[in-house]
Amino acid sequence: MEKKIKSLLDRMTLEEKAGQLQQCGPSIVGAFDVDFEELVNMAYDGRISGEEFQRLMSTAEQDYHESELRAGRIGSYNGISDAKIVNRLQKIAVEETRLGIPLLFGYDVLHGYRTVTPIPLGESCAWDPDLWERTARMSAEEAGAGGIHMTFAPMVDVSKDARWGRISEGAGEDAYLNAKYGVAKVKGFQGSSLKEPDTMIACVKHFAGYGAVESGRDYNRVDLSPQKLYEEYLPPYEACVRAGARAVMPAFNDLDGVPCTINQWLLRKVLREDWQFDGMTISDANAIAECVEHGIAADRRDAAAKALLAGVDMDMTSDCYSQHVVHLVEEGILPEEVLDQAVGNILRIKMELGLFEHPFRTDEEKEKKTILKPEFRATARKAAEESMVLLENSGILPLRTECRIALSGELAGIRSEMSGTWAIKCSGEDCVSIADACAQRRIEYETYTEEEIIRCDSVEELFQGYDVILAAVGEKKNQSGEAASRTDLALAPIQKKMLERLAKSGRPVVAVIFNGRPLAIPELKGQAQAILEAWHPGVEAGNAILNILFGTVNPSGKLTTTFPHAVGECPVYYDHIRTGRPAGRSKFTSKYLDVPSEPVYPFGYGLSYTAYTYSDLEIAERKESVTVSVKVKNVGDVDGMEIVQCYFHDPVALRVRPVKKLIDFVKTPLSAGEEKRVVFEIPKEKLGYYDPQMRFVVEAGEYEFFVGGNSSDCLVCRTNLCGLSN
Ligand code: GLC
Repeated sequence: MEKKIKSLLDRMTLEEKAGQLQQCGPSIVGAFDVDFEELVNMAYDGRISGEEFQRLMSTAEQDYHESELRAGRIGSYNGISDAKIVNRLQKIAVEETRLGIPLLFGYDVLHGYRTVTPIPLGESCAWDPDLWERTARMSAEEAGAGGIHMTFAPMVDVSKDARWGRISEGAGEDAYLNAKYGVAKVKGFQGSSLKEPDTMIACVKHFAGYGAVESGRDYNRVDLSPQKLYEEYLPPYEACVRAGARAVMPAFNDLDGVPCTINQWLLRKVLREDWQFDGMTISDANAIAECVEHGIAADRRDAAAKALLAGVDMDMTSDCYSQHVVHLVEEGILPEEVLDQAVGNILRIKMELGLFEHPFRTDEEKEKKTILKPEFRATARKAAEESMVLLENSGILPLRTECRIALSGELAGIRSEMSGTWAIKCSGEDCVSIADACAQRRIEYETYTEEEIIRCDSVEELFQGYDVILAAVGEKKNQSGEAASRTDLALAPIQKKMLERLAKSGRPVVAVIFNGRPLAIPELKGQAQAILEAWHPGVEAGNAILNILFGTVNPSGKLTTTFPHAVGECPVYYDHIRTGRPAGRSKFTSKYLDVPSEPVYPFGYGLSYTAYTYSDLEIAERKESVTVSVKVKNVGDVDGMEIVQCYFHDPVALRVRPVKKLIDFVKTPLSAGEEKRVVFEIPKEKLGYYDPQMRFVVEAGEYEFFVGGNSSDCLVCRTNLCGLSN
């Protein structure tokens, strides 16, 4: 392959090389004299009405820049997902450009293409790498049929701050869980051979540390000590790269003052030298141009030079490379071998996909028969069922089949809100709401809006004929995701008012929460007899929710983020340090005056319709590993799946260590009454950390191991271990 790349490079002009670096988004043009982005901003800030925006959009059409393409100035497209259009553009590339180099089509397929599965933060609560891989495999088959070659996923930005809307796109606050999640996704997306048309390149993002934006405000600065970066934020990206991800996307943010997009240390030293990455990198949208805004580049030409020297191969939808790279090389500012390296990385990916031999990987017939295949829906339903977390249950759940239900709150009936963020291809009509699911099951139900409940004279009268009230509360899908930071994690006032009234209705209330982030909902446990955390569950939302509420499925999901009492606690997370004054009863300890020290719901927490007990925690040391084993028993009368979690703590070290760190987990079936021994083989490497001089050490000495069904209540065992010599 390297020979082929070399011979192709030798035939390419500078213009053609620069063309390969350009990813073009379809620009929407129409009967408006501003560019599309400006039109969106005008609608967003009210300069034009929603109706006016829709009218203008009805005149809009996509401009695919075919003339640029014919001239060899486009190497890739973003945001096109239609077999017919993809093939039309690919035909131009391979037949009408001088060298016939095929195009690469990229798209954001984070949690399904048309068959949308739960948002990543939701699916992470399944703690199930097989499931994570299966849903990624399914989305690759479906997106591949739509003409996609690369997905801008998995996103594995560890995030401990629920104010950040993009916490919805990853696997929560723990590095180990994000790593397991990301690796499963890379395998699912890329399959066994990228030459297969039902596979797509995994593009790991956002490299690096985007989840640590200051104050949870999107695009804000990221300042991390080397230890924190290496111990808490880099592991998931590294795991994905070592699992074979073929693309990486640098993050918008700076890292300690140097924007990732032009960060040579990050993109060349860490990614390519240390981690031996030989795939391609692609900037985030317009991120190269935005280096001027960062104040790290004097102008777009400077930004182009800095980004290419840093190791960003492809320019996503800014035009810095296409405008400046040729001149930069001609003027000797940019060595041509740096350009050749970037072009070579891109050509390598196109060759790995087999696009030179088979540029057309799909067609309209195939697209039509693959999209929304029934078996995809079944997988989406299973993923939604495994992602939901039962937070409270007085015993009201599971519901009796013949019960009469009052559906309260608009989210019980709005299909389009079920898809969550980044579900670009999903149309609302693909989704099943709770109301739809009730109707399909011929359940006797009625729906009530928040206003109706708040304004009614008597809630007792209004609901006297019902056995249970299902209150659907939480966020709409646009309240999380990109550019959706919030300073308040409470339920909307209208939802709080509705719940206050429902609590006085004299009828049992079951709350179902739709959200893209942890919410501050301490009051809910006093208002509802049961609470089901549903996240934004995707196309099978209503069916999965009713399967759990009626007990067809025994809930097994567990939280991968900490639920705070109030936004003021953020960032809040389970693997915190102890401090010299751990939170306690005396005044002078590390805590808040106005909220309890324990979270409302801790990392790893989730209830079941059965119960599990843990006993006989045993530790056995080997030379290079530690064996941790425990007995788990299902003491209820319902079969279930238990997520057994193993944590450790290093009580005395050269730097203060987290009170607990997740080191392994397993999701295991346990039938009613069954007891089994669960064994974790822990390589001692996993006990290590970076000392104050950034040396990775695995010290001899005392360690604590914790095993349990969540991060708060665990069996614990202290033991002495020999370390590992460096
Ligand atoms: C966005 C996001 C990135 C996404 C890209 C393409 O701004 O930051 O995650 O993949 O643009 O849509």
